Amino acid sequence: MASEQTDQGRGAGPRVRRLASDVLTADEIAEIRALMTAAFGDDDEDRFDNTDWEHALGGSHVVVDLDGRIVGHAAVVERELHIAGRSIRTGYVEAVATAPDRQGSGVGTLAMEVIGSIIAAGYELGALGTGSHHFYERLGWRTWRGPSFVRTAAGDQETPDDDGYIMVLLTPTTGPLDPTSTISCDWRPGDVW
Ligand SMILES: CC(C)(COP(=O)(O)OP(=O)(O)OC[C@H]1O[C@@H](n2cnc3c(N)ncnc32)[C@H](O)[C@@H]1OP(=O)(O)O)[C@@H](O)C(=O)NCCC(=O)NCCS
Repeated sequence: MASEQTDQGRGAGPRVRRLASDVLTADEIAEIRALMTAAFGDDDEDRFDNTDWEHALGGSHVVVDLDGRIVGHAAVVERELHIAGRSIRTGYVEAVATAPDRQGSGVGTLAMEVIGSIIAAGYELGALGTGSHHFYERLGWRTWRGPSFVRTAAGDQETPDDDGYIMVLLTPTTGPLDPTSTISCDWRPGDVW
């Protein structure tokens, strides 16, 4: 996929770009990684590590530029979720952050609006894991109320620590879903959700 600039923010304001992982330059990757580190901080539990970055690769990145630097980022990758036994092609959101000195000025919202469009156009459902529910609720995301699992070679395993932290975004192709039913993700290293 080629780099693509939206009409939003042309001129002096923020510029939004959508890029595939394989066209990110080394400089852009370094700048985004530095942004993630600054936004998530140094606490062991919250720190943005290499595995978190791996989770953000393979799909689309939305990058917000302002005053000659990257101030916002979000990524969406394809995952297969199962809800009440139904397989759902899902756009899973990763690595959402705004530079600390630009937080609260709409940058994260701008990035997530474009992510929402990508999900609506290309997936049956959006999903993500977060403790920042209010930020996403404003954009139409809803908390999943049913029990969560991860699918492993040894069968489905409960992920109770993630219950209540998973949010979903319905798309025109989602179809009927009971938000209290079971939801499962494919296994991956690091945080599975
Ligand atoms: C969460 C984050 C991406 C929001 O980006 P932002 O550019 O500051 O957000 P915006 O200015 O576009 O949106 C502001 C709105 O989001 C809400 N919001 C901002 N950060 C929030 C958070 N951590 N939790 C809940 N709501 C949050 C604000 O209250 C505000 O809501 P309002 O419009 O109802 O007043 C940013 O604060 C960040 O990078 N945080 C650290 C990393 C992180 O937590 N990433 C997301 C985890 S999944």
